[in-house]
Amino acid sequence: MNAIKILVDEHDIILRMIDVTRSMLADTSTLNTDHVEQVVDFIKNFADKYHHLKEEDVLFVEMENHGMSRQSGPVGVMLHEHEQGRAYVKQAEEGILQLKSGDIHAAGAIKESLLNYSTLLTNHINKENNILYPMAERLLPQTVMLAMSENFVEAITIASNNKFKQKYLKMADELSRIYMK
Ligand SMILES: [Fe+2]
Ligand SMILES: [Fe+2]
Repeated sequence: MNAIKILVDEHDIILRMIDVTRSMLADTSTLNTDHVEQVVDFIKNFADKYHHLKEEDVLFVEMENHGMSRQSGPVGVMLHEHEQGRAYVKQAEEGILQLKSGDIHAAGAIKESLLNYSTLLTNHINKENNILYPMAERLLPQTVMLAMSENFVEAITIASNNKFKQKYLKMADELSRIYMK
């Protein structure tokens, strides 16, 4: 499978979880801490480790190797947004700890940080799908795209063998059934 198609498909799964997150946070008086923890687990491991690292460690590196700056320009902006997302998730985690220790006001802080994350990631994904990935397809030679595709297929195979991917797809399915009626 084509490397860019793999990344776009992962975006679709992340966007699905973002819709679930927005619905989950609509009414914080009924906030289910376990479900919020699942969302944070998904964001940290599927969206960030599994997806963003394909970009940061492979795609962006190749774009840099072919003349683009990692500090500024489109790649620099994408990296900055990944960092911003991590900061929002950290805030959400702190809110969850406070909520679990009995501070009911923490639900508002969790909502704010996860909604900020959702807005950031939705815009980020739009930029990647419509600007950055088409740019990469124009910039990178076919041999590089092929090697990247092989690399990503291998990552998917490993994630499927150790049931990593199934865990997060199942989580998105189950939470969708609850919150996306
Ligand atoms: Fe990204
Ligand atoms: Fe992405």
